Formats: sequence, C-alpha cells, structure tokens
Amino acid sequence: MKIFLAGAAGAIGKRLVPLLLDAGHRVVGTTRSPTKADALHAVGVELVVVDVFDAPALSRAVSAARPDIVVHQLTDLPPGLDPARMAEGTRRNARMRREGTQNLVTAALAAGVHRLVTQSIAWMYAPGPEPHGEDDPLDAHAPGTRAVTADGVATLERLTLASPPIDGVVLRYGHLYGPGTGANASEIPSLHVDAAAAAALLAIENACCGIYNIAERSGYLSTDKARRQLGFDPSFRLAAYVRQ
Ligand SMILES: NC(=O)c1ccc[n+]([C@@H]2O[C@H](COP(=O)([O-])OP(=O)(O)OC[C@H]3O[C@@H](n4cnc5c(N)ncnc54)[C@H](OP(=O)(O)O)[C@@H]3O)[C@@H](O)[C@H]2O)c1
Repeated sequence: MKIFLAGAAGAIGKRLVPLLLDAGHRVVGTTRSPTKADALHAVGVELVVVDVFDAPALSRAVSAARPDIVVHQLTDLPPGLDPARMAEGTRRNARMRREGTQNLVTAALAAGVHRLVTQSIAWMYAPGPEPHGEDDPLDAHAPGTRAVTADGVATLERLTLASPPIDGVVLRYGHLYGPGTGANASEIPSLHVDAAAAAALLAIENACCGIYNIAERSGYLSTDKARRQLGFDPSFRLAAYVRQ
C-alpha cells in the first residue's frame, strides 16, 4: 500500500519508516525541515516538506501522493519533554491535535483516502476502576493543563473516528521511552518507541477501525484488545526484528 506518513522524522516516525518499507509499502513522509528530508530520502522515503498548519499545501501534498492510508504521527512537544517547556508544549500539542488533525482529515477526505491511523495517548482516562479499557470515559473535567490535553485528545479522536467514509484507527500510546525519546524508561503506562511503531504497522495491516490501548502491561490499562485483535506485542524491538 501507499502510506502518507505525517511526522516521518519524529520519534515514532523514524522507527516506523523501516518497518513500512520492509513490509513492502511505499512511504510518502512529511517533515518541515529540508535537512531531515535528505536523511529520510536516503532510506527510500518519498519526501514532502510541508507544515500541517498550511492547509492548502497539505491538501495538495496528500492529493499528489494519492495514498491508501494516512498515518498521523505529529506531535509538538519539547525534546526530551523538557519540564521547563512543557506548559507551552502542552498548548502547542493541543493545537496540533485540534487544527493539525482537522487539516489532515480534510486533506485525506479530498484525496479519497480510506483509512486514517492517528497517535493518541493512554493516560487521559477519567478516574475510575482500573485497568482502563478503551470504552472508559476520558477525563473531560480535568483541572489545569490536563484539561487542555483532554480537549485536544477528544478532538483528535473524534475527527479520526467520525470522518466518514474514512475508517479511523486511534492508537492510545503509553509514555514513550527508547531511541529518540530522551528517556530510557518511562512512567506507567509505558511503551518502547519500537513497539509504538510496530503497533502502527499492525493498525495499517490488520485493524478495521476503533480505539486501541497500546502500552506495556500495568494495572492502569488493559491492552487485551490490541493484543487480541492486532497481535500487538509490547516487547517488539527493531534490533531483533526479522519479518517472516
Ligand atoms: N506517547 C508519548 O509519550 C509521546 C508521543 C510523542 C512524542 N513524545 C515525546 O515528545 C518528545 C518529542 O518527540 P518527537 O521528536 O517525536 O516530536 P516532534 O519532533 O515534536 O514531532 C513529531 C513529528 O511531528 C512533526 N511536526 C511537528 N509540528 C509540525 C507541523 N507544524 N507541521 C508538520 N509536522 C510537524 C515533526 O516534524 P519535523 O520533522 O518537521 O520536525 C515530527 O516529525 C520526545 O521526547 C518524545 O518521546 C512522547
């Protein structure tokens, strides 16, 4: 299939590119940076330099690519999640989820794309019995900056799941660690960046539509649905990967 990967140079995007290419998919990847574009081009990605907030340019890029599937791995967070920059990062990331996702959905609809896979997060459940399943409510009445994130997440997920005729798949990722994340371990629910990328490939190839919790085992979160329906394996690592 032809995949339009929004965020090909991000923490997850970089780990997803080799998986997609190895699986035989064609990848059109985005970055805003010509420097990063060179590196991606060298490994076989067809590059588009575009800013997701430039809606007309994004639409032209998606229509020109004529992808089967759009994968949304865009975030706007400070490198290493620098605490000093997180308040501003939270607002920027919420804008990315609202306006960036809207622009991506509009572009995908215009291009006749049939599936959209988006990155969400798995720690926005409202307080309640654990482990949380995908049907549990989000923390819509959260205080402070968590309210900003909750609003962005709810909008991203609604746009992904309710933009027919697109089949939407939402991957609610745990806290990332591993290469490119600036973290060697993470708080619960945790997730290695390679397993996050592998889950996106599984969603592209196996998922119908809906929401999947994607994380390592913990008492906070149930990942049974992703394990059962997608074959998600949180121990997946790129270094040990050999496609059967
Ligand atoms: N679930 C999680 O815990 C989670 C999820 C994601 C990220 N993070 C953390 O956040 C930190 C930064 O991660 P990262 O490097 O992947 O994130 P990032 O660089 O902020 O963004 C990821 C991708 O989004 C793209 N992007 C951002 N703004 C854009 C815009 N306006 N238009 C088009 N593309 C845009 C970037 O493209 P460019 O190539 O143009 O920069 C990049 O490919 C890391 O520490 C990471 O672990 C955590």
